[in-house]
Amino acid sequence: MAQKNNDEQFKNVISHAKEYGFVFQSSEIYDGLSAVYDYGQLGAELKNNIKTYWWKAMVQMHENIVGIDSAIFMHPKVWKASGHVDGFNDPMIDNKDSKKRYRADQLLENKIDELYSELANFSAENKAGFETFQQEILGLSDEGQAAWIPGFKDEETILDNAKYPFVDEASWRFVRKGLALEVEMNLALKSENLAQLKDLIVNYKVICPISKTSNWTDVRQFNLMFSTQFGAMAEGSDEVYLRPETAQGIFVNFLNVQKSGRMKIPFGIAQIGKAFRNEVIARQFIMRMREFEQMEMQFFVRPGEDKKWFEYWKEARLKWHKALGTNPEKYRYHDHVKLAHYANAATDIEFEFPFGFKEVEGIHSRTDFDLKQHQEFSGKKMQYFDNDLNEDGKPYGNYIPYVIETSIGLDRMFLLTMINAFEEQDLSTEDKQDSRTLLRLHPALAPYKVAIFPLTKKDGLPEKAREIMDELKFDFNCIYEEKDAIGKRYRRQDAVGTPFCITVDHQSLEDQTVTIRHRDSMEQERIAIADLAGVIGKATSWKALLA
Ligand code: GAP
Repeated sequence: MAQKNNDEQFKNVISHAKEYGFVFQSSEIYDGLSAVYDYGQLGAELKNNIKTYWWKAMVQMHENIVGIDSAIFMHPKVWKASGHVDGFNDPMIDNKDSKKRYRADQLLENKIDELYSELANFSAENKAGFETFQQEILGLSDEGQAAWIPGFKDEETILDNAKYPFVDEASWRFVRKGLALEVEMNLALKSENLAQLKDLIVNYKVICPISKTSNWTDVRQFNLMFSTQFGAMAEGSDEVYLRPETAQGIFVNFLNVQKSGRMKIPFGIAQIGKAFRNEVIARQFIMRMREFEQMEMQFFVRPGEDKKWFEYWKEARLKWHKALGTNPEKYRYHDHVKLAHYANAATDIEFEFPFGFKEVEGIHSRTDFDLKQHQEFSGKKMQYFDNDLNEDGKPYGNYIPYVIETSIGLDRMFLLTMINAFEEQDLSTEDKQDSRTLLRLHPALAPYKVAIFPLTKKDGLPEKAREIMDELKFDFNCIYEEKDAIGKRYRRQDAVGTPFCITVDHQSLEDQTVTIRHRDSMEQERIAIADLAGVIGKATSWKALLA
């Protein structure tokens, strides 16, 4: 039932986004382009406000972080150095009956989730015991896991009942299979053993959700980068890529920014920009797109201080999310047990979307991997000279800095914001059925800050309303509306998240006051026109969010 409600709520958010000009399918009149979306008149405003919130928090509130705007096209060697040409692949498999293509790892992850769902039948104590055990196993080295798997799969007795009481649970055989599959899948993915991935799909009886058969092709690697042709390049190759992440534009400009900005470690470089990935499985609206935007920051630190800064950014970024007033229970960290080869720590900030907890932002401790790679591939030194003194009173000297990255998807943040703000309220009384749809956006993010309505279209009220708007529009995004009854105009503004509506009536002409209506409480009060800017300014100020 809860699932159905969640699905329904998600569908309602999607149709609301279209109806009110937030998000449209790209090229809709040509039946759309899959996993590509356009932001409409209000979506563009909301998106800009989210960008501003991020930029202010990251760049303007930190003296040691600067922002850049690097090009989407980069030298093809950048992607060789970063590992994207050779390693930015998804393992794909086709079902021969339905002709549908899937990511092999996602099919397996769904199977693992299905098997782990049996944990719901465990006692709370045994569930916790299993989870500790699971972390122990997943924390083993690859060799340790590979050695552990055969006994675990074949002999239930390998587990000591006294040490692991959960093996007595009736659902244990499913959960056990889930853990075995998780380990086997991780090992196969790490070693890029595609035949093994296929074997797991077959052996664990994974079926296609459409055809319900297990008639699978082999698993093949599919590179996610889009390529296109450029003018002739020195090396004779004219293939360039649309960047799959904005981060590399920061790494290749590390020296330029450090030198021109006289930046001292620790310092950060931030940017917001488009990224492109040829996602094979594109789904859940703007959650997984082929063209999307990232807001990334690379923080360059002294080797050895990376763990400390990783913890700092982990906490700082969650605080940024929660400041928007989102229910804190909707957020959680997902610390990576298995790390990418270049990382020594990584966590995701996950949000509970209607379709479950999913990653919105990644915080990665990337060591000196990227700068080292660029040093090797470009032949240019990527070093920093640190003249601060170490414990022995000597300068730290030359080194390649370590990097902590914070990387958030702007479109995912947009979706989160819409989902979190969307509310359908029943306002019925004994005498009358009534309801409203509300976007309870933080006022600083709201596309319009204030709507200005003349009560009627005559008696000089429109002129007075326009006069107020002409004064406020320099500081606030305003909308003027004179069509329809006031109640209907209020409802329309509630639906797009406008925090204030101002009504100009005959009394306004006499005493220079208006009624101001508050979106969330629907309360109205009479205030002097001269006080409007102060009231609206206070509620919509970035200071409230950033202080
Ligand atoms: N530079 C690191 C990096 O790109 P990532 O985890 O691949 O890391 C970071 O991406 C963030 O970008 C994700 O947390 C997500 O919010 C967003 N993102 C990634 N792929 C996306 C896609 N196809 N559509 C929308 N957002 C995406």
